[in-house]
Amino acid sequence: MKLIFATNNAHKLREVSQVVGDRFTLLTPRECGITEDIPEDQPTLEGNALQKARYIYERTGIDCFADDTGLEVDALGGEPGVRSARYATDGHDDEANKRLLLQRLQGIENRAAQFRTAIALIIGGEEYLFEGVVRGEISHEELGDGGFGYDPLFLPEGRAESFAQMSAEDKNAISHRGRAVRALAEFLNFELL
Ligand code: IMP
Repeated sequence: MKLIFATNNAHKLREVSQVVGDRFTLLTPRECGITEDIPEDQPTLEGNALQKARYIYERTGIDCFADDTGLEVDALGGEPGVRSARYATDGHDDEANKRLLLQRLQGIENRAAQFRTAIALIIGGEEYLFEGVVRGEISHEELGDGGFGYDPLFLPEGRAESFAQMSAEDKNAISHRGRAVRALAEFLNFELL
């Protein structure tokens, strides 16, 4: 079964392909003739995931899914949330984003936070939403140099190391994206077929 995954990031595509299994052939938007940037300007993660999936489905008629992720910090009322990529600047600058987050949390004791991923799936015109969450804390300084984005600042609950200090496999086993993709895979493999 063919499914378009709304990403042109080869790394993400490979990772997600492994989880959904070989009954599904994942295609990129580009492979299906969508070369422009897909709009994602909604105020929520779910809204963005649905917006991207609908954009693709309306243009191709092919079943598809899209994801959106945010870091939600309790003491900041859920910020940066849907604006995680462009927290400090419009340009998606990871270093500036991490600096701004540490600045905003200066002197604040409650460091509780979560990463959350929303996935929107459209099959035969029906829409489904999946979610993956990992709770944790924001560290006081960067720890480790693996991963990407806010990884060096995120200490997942029950673990002594940051996401940036873990192997990709260890992170994937507990991460927001890993959980959301496994929920999607379970639906595709056990509920749908
Ligand atoms: P996206 O929806 O996967 O593109 O994620 C949006 C933004 O959230 C990214 O640009 C990163 O800043 C942040 N982010 C998403 N997933 C992760 C993660 O696993 N670790 C660290 N930061 C992440």
